[in-house]
Amino acid sequence: MPTIAVTGAASGIGAAVCAQLENEGHTLIRVDRANADVNADLSTPEGRQQAVQATLEQCGGSLDAVVACAGVGVTAPSVGLIVGVNYFGVAEYLEGLETALKASGRGKAVIIGSVAGSHQVAAPHAMAEAMLDNDEAKAREIADDSGEPHTAYAASKYAVTVYGRRKAVEWSRQGMRLNIIAPGAVETPLHQASIDDPRFGEAVRNFVAPMGRAGTPDEIASATSFLLSDQASFISGSVLFVDGGMDAMVRARQF
Ligand code: NAI
Repeated sequence: MPTIAVTGAASGIGAAVCAQLENEGHTLIRVDRANADVNADLSTPEGRQQAVQATLEQCGGSLDAVVACAGVGVTAPSVGLIVGVNYFGVAEYLEGLETALKASGRGKAVIIGSVAGSHQVAAPHAMAEAMLDNDEAKAREIADDSGEPHTAYAASKYAVTVYGRRKAVEWSRQGMRLNIIAPGAVETPLHQASIDDPRFGEAVRNFVAPMGRAGTPDEIASATSFLLSDQASFISGSVLFVDGGMDAMVRARQF
């Protein structure tokens, strides 16, 4: 059965993705800081390298898919960490596994982005440009200097979405597919931590989708499973909003 590596597998959306894919009969390589098949810290270059090496060993050099889900939210211990995990932890892990994805002859990936990636603060920000220039030191410096976790979060999700779409163009020419899921609020420990944080709690509570509720991790897992399946064989480079109508409400004219 296809082998799929999932980062952020120990909690929330990543755990739900693993449960669903395992149910479907896939072989999984779970990656997380702890309690996983591959225990590694995706916030550092060394940790990412370790994650790539261990994943390559476990898949024998041929990998069918990657779900890049590991991420930190606005309550992360430092603003720079948001950039380190949410952008570089995705991009460097995927780059390191590209050859193995090609080797399987059917490589696919899903990046878990966020509706926050299309917030106005995200796109023109120097922090996002530094990420896209692959300059981690500069991106982290701008992030830490800003002292604004919400801006870093939005910029990291914007940049990782642009990265994914560019990568999808390259991959699609080689028979591989990459798509991005942009969830709205989803009931996970990350979401709960921002609700409980006095700096962000009110804004998060007021950020309610037209459906009037947050999503469940299983709803993101179902969309991930679909994008990895042959039913999605002509879908590549797409950003799929799984957000209870939030993006349509905020940005009806942009699609
Ligand atoms: P979560 O906190 O439940 O799970 C995140 C997982 O990533 C954890 O298991 C954590 O250990 C792992 N992780 C964090 N830093 C890591 C590192 N340095 N190295 C290795 N693993 C690391 O959070 P949730 O909500 O499941 O988030 C998953 C993804 O979904 C994240 O990328 C998040 O930004 C995104 N997302 C979540 C939303 C929500 O409302 N929950 C909304 C939109 C996007």
